[in-house]
Amino acid sequence: MKLIQAEKIAKGAEAVIFKGTFLQSPIAIKHRLPKSYRHPDIDNRIRLHRLRSEAKVMTNARKIGVSVPSLFGVDIEDHILIIESLEGKLLFEEMNSLPIDKLDPIFVNLGHQIGLLHSNDIIHGDLTVFNVLIQLEDKLSIIDFGLGKISNELEAKADDLLTFYSTLKAIQPASNILFNTFLEGYLSVYPEGKNTYEQMKKIQSRARYIAREDRLE
Ligand SMILES: Nc1ncnc2c1ncn2[C@@H]1O[C@H](COP(=O)(O)OP(=O)(O)O)[C@@H](O)[C@H]1O
Ligand SMILES: [Mg+2]
Repeated sequence: MKLIQAEKIAKGAEAVIFKGTFLQSPIAIKHRLPKSYRHPDIDNRIRLHRLRSEAKVMTNARKIGVSVPSLFGVDIEDHILIIESLEGKLLFEEMNSLPIDKLDPIFVNLGHQIGLLHSNDIIHGDLTVFNVLIQLEDKLSIIDFGLGKISNELEAKADDLLTFYSTLKAIQPASNILFNTFLEGYLSVYPEGKNTYEQMKKIQSRARYIAREDRLE
């Protein structure tokens, strides 16, 4: 009997994902590949750190009720995570195909999920429209916690919001409305998140100020 049968392959920014089945459950096998431009020792350390972070952060997130896939197994030596495979499209794809009224509940829900994460001092670390899977209009899951951490730092939480805002802006210029919808959801479960939002705006204006200083005359 074949325990694991890996079939389809997806390629992310830093890992290869094999999709298959394990004892009849759909699984995603996330394999972090070596990066040849990094020194092998440093590369090993980085990949190991991200593997451990991802395993720890996604487990903690799931424990507090955030919608993330289950973690089935970790292979430290080979830099592999075995994760429950979910159906669904990336938020990035849905933004290109769904009308705004269908996107609204998705962004409120995502705001709830991130509010829950932050109120428990969990940082995603790479909160982009490529790391959210939409299953149904009111069901989504957050993936890719390799840059995540446990931290109560305001700056780290604000960075999550700013990363999300920036990727939204990059793919859809009229996305202020969607970000505000997300923010409503975020603040409804995490009222102290207004400080996170204020900090996000401070980082933004700091960046704008630096950009002005750097501008060539
Ligand atoms: N649990 C999962 N279920 C279904 N698809 C997944 C799952 N995890 C990852 N994928 C797919 O693989 C891609 C890359 O995974 P991700 O964890 O984001 O890796 P990377 O760090 O390389 O971006 C995702 O965009 C998604 O299409
Ligand atoms: Mg990713």
